[in-house]
Amino acid sequence: MNIPSISTQLTEQKTELQRYGTVANRPLALDKKVRLNSVTGLNQILADTMTLRDMYKKHHWQAAGPTFYQLHLLFDKHWAEQVELVDALAERIQTLGGVAIAMAPDVAETTRITRPPRGPENASIQLFRLLQAHELIIAETRELAHAAANEGDDGTNDLFVSQVLRQNEFQVWFVSEQLAGTGISEKDVEADRFAVASRA
Ligand SMILES: [Fe+2]
Repeated sequence: MNIPSISTQLTEQKTELQRYGTVANRPLALDKKVRLNSVTGLNQILADTMTLRDMYKKHHWQAAGPTFYQLHLLFDKHWAEQVELVDALAERIQTLGGVAIAMAPDVAETTRITRPPRGPENASIQLFRLLQAHELIIAETRELAHAAANEGDDGTNDLFVSQVLRQNEFQVWFVSEQLAGTGISEKDVEADRFAVASRA
């Protein structure tokens, strides 16, 4: 008798209790289609938020130069705040009966934020990259918040506006002022050293 190994069993799809991209029934007085739309939007913001969270830690570790200490601390504070958003987004998805994206390879396939190089970059590039990621999330979130409100999903709208949108806008203030405070403006960022994301 040929008994499959545990590792073989664990790589087979049949272990999944619910497929990603589906929603289980929930007595929330919200149509399945509405919950599915909200879950799809929430997973996009979740993947982008996880990517921004990790970018903050990358920059926290790789900070260098005269602003090292303040950036090292600022990046870690923002990282911790993004961690809170990740959990709130994922648990909203589960609340709606969906499946929250979780693992790094799946996040990498889903996020729209440009992948930075593994190596360190200077402070101005770090800050510029963060601002770009924040703006992408802010634009997406505002759009999805309106859609959720129009469909009657007030809980998702509230999460998007009260937590995700306002936290990202607040962090943009700090990152922007840090950029201004160091005397570095956007025009000083060398275009050839910073690949702007294609938002096709
Ligand atoms: Fe640290």
